[in-house]
Amino acid sequence: MRKVMLTGDRPTGKLHVGHYVGSLRRRVELQNTGDFDDIFIMIADAQALTDNADNPEKVRQNIIEVALDYLACGLDPEKSTILIQSQIPELCELSFYYMNLVTVSRLQRNPTVKSEIQMRNFEASIPVGFFTYPISQAADITAFKATVVPVGEDQMPMLEQTKEIVHKFNSVYGETLVEPKILLPENQACMRLPGTDGKAKMSKSLGNCIYLSEEPEEIKKKVFSMFTDPNHIRIEDPGSLEGNTVFTYLDAFCRPEYFPEFLPEYENLDELKAHYQRGGLGDMKVKRFLNNVLQAELEPIRNRRKEFQKDIPAVYEMLRKGTGKAEKVAAETLRDVKAAMKINYFDDEELIRMQSAKYTES
Ligand code: TRP
Repeated sequence: MRKVMLTGDRPTGKLHVGHYVGSLRRRVELQNTGDFDDIFIMIADAQALTDNADNPEKVRQNIIEVALDYLACGLDPEKSTILIQSQIPELCELSFYYMNLVTVSRLQRNPTVKSEIQMRNFEASIPVGFFTYPISQAADITAFKATVVPVGEDQMPMLEQTKEIVHKFNSVYGETLVEPKILLPENQACMRLPGTDGKAKMSKSLGNCIYLSEEPEEIKKKVFSMFTDPNHIRIEDPGSLEGNTVFTYLDAFCRPEYFPEFLPEYENLDELKAHYQRGGLGDMKVKRFLNNVLQAELEPIRNRRKEFQKDIPAVYEMLRKGTGKAEKVAAETLRDVKAAMKINYFDDEELIRMQSAKYTES
């Protein structure tokens, strides 16, 4: 069977370190294994509009930011097709037909949609487009016959919904769509990296994100103001790792080689944690280490981004090409879907022959 990876992001802002450990880093690794027959990375602008309908300029401006972040992280257009969702009308058509296979009550049970409705205070005035975006996401995934979808935990309900649509479609209309598998981040810290203030959600308005394009001084400032253990007051006090943002970030970012480089008096992260819990290790020292780690991780990304920023027209050209290539694949799937649903009248000579036999005297 072909191996196809697909994933994407809503272009509502620059990408941050949460995106990086949650999915981006993994995408690039998978891309570079060469294991996949095809890789599609989607800038999900149409989905972003489902809850930003009144702010299209925000979405428009952030397409290039997300594309630059992708390239900066090492997504390579020679190996991964980067596309813009709204420019592929086939996705809307697929969504429209899938809508017949999903109930309103099923959509109401989607936990991610539920919490987004609360967060956005939609309550009684939920836009239909927003409410149905899990169906559109099923179209995104199935249009490219994706087998592997690397995403964060919050996307699990979307993958469940997609699988249900695939099963329902195939059982009603015959084997047509491919069932995708979710690929979750490698550990709990990567699954839900908190903001620098320890809050679960990283958001621009809270000022608690570290962006991939952040300058070194900013990174440092954010690391040194990070939330730790509020009861760890004196260095001798035993410290707690639970909800300690600095250690959560180390879980997500630390590599073994950073110890000899930046903190040679410890063998590994377990030793550092044990010392902190025992008491006698100050927050400043751990923050200094984390700052070194983050600087080492983000510097090459920032530098690559600056190179790509020098030729913006080339980035748009790359997007145009990727979108064109992706549309061809989506069009093929749509053709299969319409044939399975028997809405391919003009391609069906048998249908025309039968109908004319019905009305022609023999
Ligand atoms: N829902 C995803 C997010 O909020 C973005 C997305 C849209 C996506 N279509 C997708 C992710 C298809 C994976 C596969 O980040």
